[in-house]
Amino acid sequence: SKSNSDIKSSSDIKPENDIKPDSDTWPVWATEPVLIVPYDPSWPAKAAQYKEDLIKSLSSLGIHNIEHIGSTAVPGLAAKPIIDLAVLIPSFDPIDEIARLLQPLDWHYVPLELDGRPERRFFVKVENDKRSAHLHFLLPNSPVWKEKLRFRDYLINNPSAREQYTQLKMNLSQQHSQDREAYTAAKTEFITGSIRPRIIFATNNAHKVEEIQAAIGARLEIITLRQAGIDIDIPEPHDTLEANATEKSMTIHRLTGTNCFSEDTGLEVPSLGGEPGVKSARYAGEDRAFEKNIEKLLNKLAAISPASAQPASTPSASLTDSTRSARFRTVISLIWNGQEHFFEGICNGHILPAPTGEGGFGYDPVFVPEGETRSFAQMSMEEKNLYSHRRKAADQLVTFLQSQTSN
Ligand code: IMP
Repeated sequence: SKSNSDIKSSSDIKPENDIKPDSDTWPVWATEPVLIVPYDPSWPAKAAQYKEDLIKSLSSLGIHNIEHIGSTAVPGLAAKPIIDLAVLIPSFDPIDEIARLLQPLDWHYVPLELDGRPERRFFVKVENDKRSAHLHFLLPNSPVWKEKLRFRDYLINNPSAREQYTQLKMNLSQQHSQDREAYTAAKTEFITGSIRPRIIFATNNAHKVEEIQAAIGARLEIITLRQAGIDIDIPEPHDTLEANATEKSMTIHRLTGTNCFSEDTGLEVPSLGGEPGVKSARYAGEDRAFEKNIEKLLNKLAAISPASAQPASTPSASLTDSTRSARFRTVISLIWNGQEHFFEGICNGHILPAPTGEGGFGYDPVFVPEGETRSFAQMSMEEKNLYSHRRKAADQLVTFLQSQTSN
């Protein structure tokens, strides 16, 4: 029967299983509809058996790196009952030889012209006229290989993501039952979103996360301490921003063993000897109340402003009053592969005589960046990010991470 011979023409193969049969000449297994079934605990053993047989048959070619990939490799995941295996191979040159060696095991080679995917060489295993497995030959450094393994491991390690993915597949297969491309696009979006590299940002401050995620963009996902399941308050006992940032990143690195970063920011006013500086959050006391911190800052500045001219009494005058010069300084401490890297961002500006604006956080209502007349609290996040100290430090962090993750 045809199902036991190699595939020689396009009428011999229907690689996608949801296309309706329109020819009597296709083998049964190529046109059968394949339905998603509940997870079958016998799948891993089946995959192991296929692997063992493959390694034996291909021993002359020195192939040993075979991975069970795809949905059947994730315990608990509903899937099409077809085992997917991936093999790394130094080159596709011996593919005809491989096809010959695998023929007796009922692995059918799907020629590139039919498969249409140059990044792989593809085989289908047929048992009792049914497709039982796929074999993907991939080259070293194949992005497909890395992605497949990352996504598989992500689902294995994240029960809630597994649940979400199951739900998504079920919804999509109903929504797009006639539109395979839409189905695949929606699935791909979930997959690429899931396997984005992540890094822990040692904070629970939603403003900071939002600002830094905006700088980093979609390539890298930031997770907060809370999202990482870490519920501790890391002390900031030191007298420099650098030392406090290090304290936070090192603490999280010790707890998680993963790459992470922290930041510490201070508002530095030279006419106050650099105050509030490293004490910015607790300037007016341990309760970290923004209003009280701002009040203390404004009172101190009023006391040293030249009394005669009262230059700080109007917002515009305050912008040229050198006693009201200030800067935000952000220090990021990144622990990357066990090594610490610092990034600094500075935003120069002035302190207003009174809080203005509703947005932002912390000292934003009294801080006007150089070149502006509005306070940070009067700006959208995008506008603030044109000047922001945190953004400048984050941009350097991103440049560094890109140089590290670009292949
Ligand atoms: P920390 O980095 O969380 O220790 O923040 C130090 C203090 O500076 C806190 O009171 C923050 O509210 C304040 N702060 C940090 N970043 C900003 C900012 O971008 N705008 C205004 N205040 C900030």
